[in-house]
Amino acid sequence: MNYEQIFDQAIERLHSEGRYRVFIDILRNKGAYPNARCFAGHNGPKPITVWCSNDYLAMGQHPKVIAAMEEALHDVGAGSGGTRNIGGNTHYHVQLESELADLHGKDGALLFTSGYVSNDATLSTLAKILPGCIIFSDELNHASMIAGIRNSGAEKKVFRHNDVEHLEQLLAETDPAVPKLIAFESVYSMDGDVAPIHAICDLADKYNALTYIDEVHAVGMYGPRGGGISEREDAASRITIIEGTLGKAFGVMGGYIAADTRIIDVIRSYAPGFIFTTSLSPVLVAGVLASVRHLKSSSAEREGQQEAAASLKQMFRDAGLPVMDSTTHIVPLMVGDPVRTKKIADILLAEYGVYVQPINYPTVPRGTERLRFTPGPAHTADMRRELTSALIEIWQRMELDLRKAA
Ligand SMILES: Cc1ncc(COP(=O)(O)O)c(C=O)c1O
Repeated sequence: MNYEQIFDQAIERLHSEGRYRVFIDILRNKGAYPNARCFAGHNGPKPITVWCSNDYLAMGQHPKVIAAMEEALHDVGAGSGGTRNIGGNTHYHVQLESELADLHGKDGALLFTSGYVSNDATLSTLAKILPGCIIFSDELNHASMIAGIRNSGAEKKVFRHNDVEHLEQLLAETDPAVPKLIAFESVYSMDGDVAPIHAICDLADKYNALTYIDEVHAVGMYGPRGGGISEREDAASRITIIEGTLGKAFGVMGGYIAADTRIIDVIRSYAPGFIFTTSLSPVLVAGVLASVRHLKSSSAEREGQQEAAASLKQMFRDAGLPVMDSTTHIVPLMVGDPVRTKKIADILLAEYGVYVQPINYPTVPRGTERLRFTPGPAHTADMRRELTSALIEIWQRMELDLRKAA
């Protein structure tokens, strides 16, 4: 057995398909986001502007968040020192779960070490607890939801993306007596579209199914207090479990679910991904606590983000760049080829100091490779104009299509 050869071939396949991933080596400049330093080619640091961060509202740079983390570090030290059950249940954790339950109007919440783990641990445990459970899953659900469903061993029925008629067809042909769970996202992060939450909840009511929504790309950013699309659309009370991350709009790290206390108790007691792991550092939790509290009462960041996204989409459209039909803060530019996508990103970084990561398979289907921009409240009008001019120049240099609006 030639192990080295097998590994080399696996890596070579990625090179030949143009989707070998190169991680850009950066440091963000505290207080000056989206400015950062890039160490590309070992001749850095050179200044760059970050256009692809999921720290959507720059809360990872917010003075209140940084102060809370510094204070916690000096007060209680670096780590939690244990699992939630064995010494790692700090007062910060208890307070944050209470804030998150309140954010979503639920009785309880439960923290995990990431959004990925919250999806995997919750979905896999839930479907094991419900005998014979069938999970109805949107075809574009995130890898962490797919992993959770797979790890549950439950039967899965995949419905076409956001297609409630197809979902109903699958529900109607299923034995009314078996437990059912509909799993979907609110904002789909690669296309920037939104699920028809009420229509899905109507079906859940009609067919007596539980609902599980991933609001990872919406919490902090939508709804009057940052409770996500379910809050904006007054649908949170109709959803059984709301899942979110603390690493994107809240700017720090971690994941959670919010639900009624019975479900929280079950997951807390049965999910290996919750039980057998060191709890989040209290320093991180203190930062999230400050972030969640701030965004509950301040809409300035949300409004700034929406304005920046609307303006960038308009600039791209006016320039004839192939901006996709996103109804959210996500601004994807379709390129449709992994090699070309990477080349555009490389030129942007090398010549314009613009950092945007190429998005390729398996994050998106093959042939739909794209550049995904995430403008936030800290991206100025000048930055948006400079980015648009750079893209126009590159599009022309590479002889790509610029379709000017009539
Ligand atoms: C839809 C969705 N769910 C869950 C996750 C995982 O969240 P986290 O980054 O906190 O692990 C992601 C991460 O990108 C995501 O896009």
